[in-house]
Amino acid sequence: MNIVIAGAGHVGRALAGGWREAGHSVSFVTREADGAKAAELKNEGFGLVPLSAAAAAADVVVLAVPWSGAEVTVEALRPLAGKILIDATNPLTANLELALGFDYSGGEVVARIVPRARVVKAFNTTGAGNMANSHYPGGKLMMPVAGDDAEAKKTVMALAADLGFEPVDVGPLAMSRHLEPMAVAWIKLAYAQGMGPEFGFAILKR
Ligand SMILES: NC(=O)c1ccc[n+]([C@@H]2O[C@H](COP(=O)([O-])OP(=O)(O)OC[C@H]3O[C@@H](n4cnc5c(N)ncnc54)[C@H](OP(=O)(O)O)[C@@H]3O)[C@@H](O)[C@H]2O)c1
Repeated sequence: MNIVIAGAGHVGRALAGGWREAGHSVSFVTREADGAKAAELKNEGFGLVPLSAAAAAADVVVLAVPWSGAEVTVEALRPLAGKILIDATNPLTANLELALGFDYSGGEVVARIVPRARVVKAFNTTGAGNMANSHYPGGKLMMPVAGDDAEAKKTVMALAADLGFEPVDVGPLAMSRHLEPMAVAWIKLAYAQGMGPEFGFAILKR
C-alpha cells in the first residue's frame, strides 16, 4: 500500500518505520523539501512528495502534524476525493488541554475540510513510542479506530494490526469526541501523574 505521511515528527516517523517493515511503501510530506530533515529522510530511503502531490501519490494519507498546523495542512491536501485520510492529531492547546470537544472533535473538523475524503481517526490515543514498538509482555495494546466508511476503517484496522496493535472499531467518526479526551488521559497519566510513556491502553474481555 502507498502511504504518504504529512508530518515527519514523533508520530509520523514511528508509523513510517513499522509500516515499511510490514512491506508498505511510505513517503513523507515535509514543509522544507531541501532541508536537513528531508535529506535525512531520503538517506533512510523514504520518498518525499510535495503537499500538492500527496493525494495522487497515496492510497492512504496520514495527518500527523500539531493541531496548530492541521487545518492548513488538510486544506493544502485537498480535495483527497475517495482517499483514506487517517487523522492521528489531537486538538490540543499549548498546555496540552483539549482545544475543543463535547459536541465536536478534531476528527470532524478535518472531515469538514475534505468532505470527499474517507477520514478515519486512529493512532491518536497512545504515545509515539508505542507506535514505534507496541510490544508489552501482558498482551496487545488496543488501537481504537473511528470512521464513517466501513471499508476505509477496515484498511486502517489492518494498518494498526501491522504495527502489533489490537484494532478496535469504535464506531463513527463522531467517536473522535471520545478518543481525543482519551489521548489527554494518556498524556496526563504519562507526564502529570509520572507514569512515563511506557504504558498503553488494552481491552480485557470475558
Ligand atoms: N507525540 C505523541 O506521542 C503523539 C501521540 C498521538 C498523537 N499525537 C498527535 O499527533 C500529531 C503529531 O504529533 P508529533 O508528536 O509527531 O509532533 P512533532 O514531533 O512536533 O512533529 C510534527 C511534524 O509536523 C510537521 N508540521 C507541519 N505543520 C506544522 C506546523 N504548523 N507546526 C509544526 N510542525 C508542523 C513538522 O514536520 P516538517 O517540519 O517536516 O513539516 C513536524 O515534524 C499531533 O497532533 C499530536 O497531538 C502525538
